[in-house]
Amino acid sequence: MAGDAVGVGLIGFGTIGTGVVKVLQRNESVLSERLGFPLRLVRIADLDTRRDRGVPLDGVRFDDDSDALIDDPEVSIVVELVGGYDAARRLTLRAIDRGKHVVTANKALLALHGNEIFDAAARKGVDVAFEASVGGGIPILRSMREGLSANRIDSLHGIMNGTTNYVLTEMEETGEPFEAVLKRAQDLGYAEADPSFDVDGVDAAHKLTLLTAMAFGAELTFKEIPTEGIRGVTPLDIEVTRDLGYRIKLLGIAKLHVGEDGGERIEARVHPTLIPASSLLAKVDGAMNAIAVHGNAVGPTLFYGAGAGEMPTASAVVADLMEIAREIRRGQAGRVAPLSYVPDHLRPKPLVPLAELHGRCYLVFTALDHPGVLARIAGELGDHGIGIQSVVQKGEVAQKEQGGSVPVVVFTHPAREGAVRQALERIDGLPEVTAPTRLIRIEEGV
Ligand code: HSE
Repeated sequence: MAGDAVGVGLIGFGTIGTGVVKVLQRNESVLSERLGFPLRLVRIADLDTRRDRGVPLDGVRFDDDSDALIDDPEVSIVVELVGGYDAARRLTLRAIDRGKHVVTANKALLALHGNEIFDAAARKGVDVAFEASVGGGIPILRSMREGLSANRIDSLHGIMNGTTNYVLTEMEETGEPFEAVLKRAQDLGYAEADPSFDVDGVDAAHKLTLLTAMAFGAELTFKEIPTEGIRGVTPLDIEVTRDLGYRIKLLGIAKLHVGEDGGERIEARVHPTLIPASSLLAKVDGAMNAIAVHGNAVGPTLFYGAGAGEMPTASAVVADLMEIAREIRRGQAGRVAPLSYVPDHLRPKPLVPLAELHGRCYLVFTALDHPGVLARIAGELGDHGIGIQSVVQKGEVAQKEQGGSVPVVVFTHPAREGAVRQALERIDGLPEVTAPTRLIRIEEGV
């Protein structure tokens, strides 16, 4: 089946945009052989038209006019790689309004404005594809929408942010504190100059928002997802927990809770998590991503790959272009609902409060090295029904910090998080306790 080319317009000619051009050019023949027709890059828009990206642009119009690109009748699919919220939202809605299909890598845009964008696209009968927004080159969204669509999804656990996984891996390997490792990662270009979206867990929460909607048919609720980053993780945490068979990963976790009345609630959260060192996710190092999905028919599955970077992300963008181009050629958009559930069945679903979670915790108390302190801490935990599984008193751990305080590390038995929080409030009010207690949740069944 040979045929006319499908025209593509690219807005945003940065790292990923350059990767998209490279994939379209280098893999031109394999793309055409799979599609039966060519994809044609018609034009590119970017505010910076002077910088040489090192790719030939013969026959491609390149200027700074993104509105004209969207309105160009030769452009059928608009690739939005601008990033951020406002400009990207405006351009995406304009493209949809002009009847153009959209491919984006922008998880922040979709996590916050996805409901509006997907509604607009459905009304207009165009597709919005966003494989590159979660897990970079890993085809996790297509797998959720299609490969796993026969399943009720029970849970998913993911390392969804490469920057934080790189920093945690380096902290483990060097023993250095967070700030030093982050600084080196920035100097080497592995971390952004403003790393807060990554290290504070916001980027992972954007991605978890999309995955949660696709897994459970839950309307997008980014602002409600409890989110904690990795700034508070210390070399002590890494060392003590490693000795006991754990690794610390920034995980996005989502689970389905079905009540006795059949009512569904969603557990969704992003935070540093202790997982058994023997689990597959624990072996995901450096900037790589991995997402474990458990379906009620398929059982456990694991998706692994590069979660960022020029060519892996471009791989996902171009795969979306190919899928939409096929639909254009068949005159049939919207073959699969973007969030996996048809819009009528995407519903607001309540989130399970953190206080209701039940699991083991790793706690680090900072207390004056006085007789009886440990007994008072243990007493408060016991009063709240929290059993102690082990207390770590290694020589290095017991080294005094400034001011004569020592860290006291406790692993609890499974307990309700609400009770743990209440106990910590009491403990942090004790005169011998000199800093807020740190808590890292332990996730066993990963
Ligand atoms: N900044 C992200 C990461 C990549 O570090 O994984 C883009 O989603």
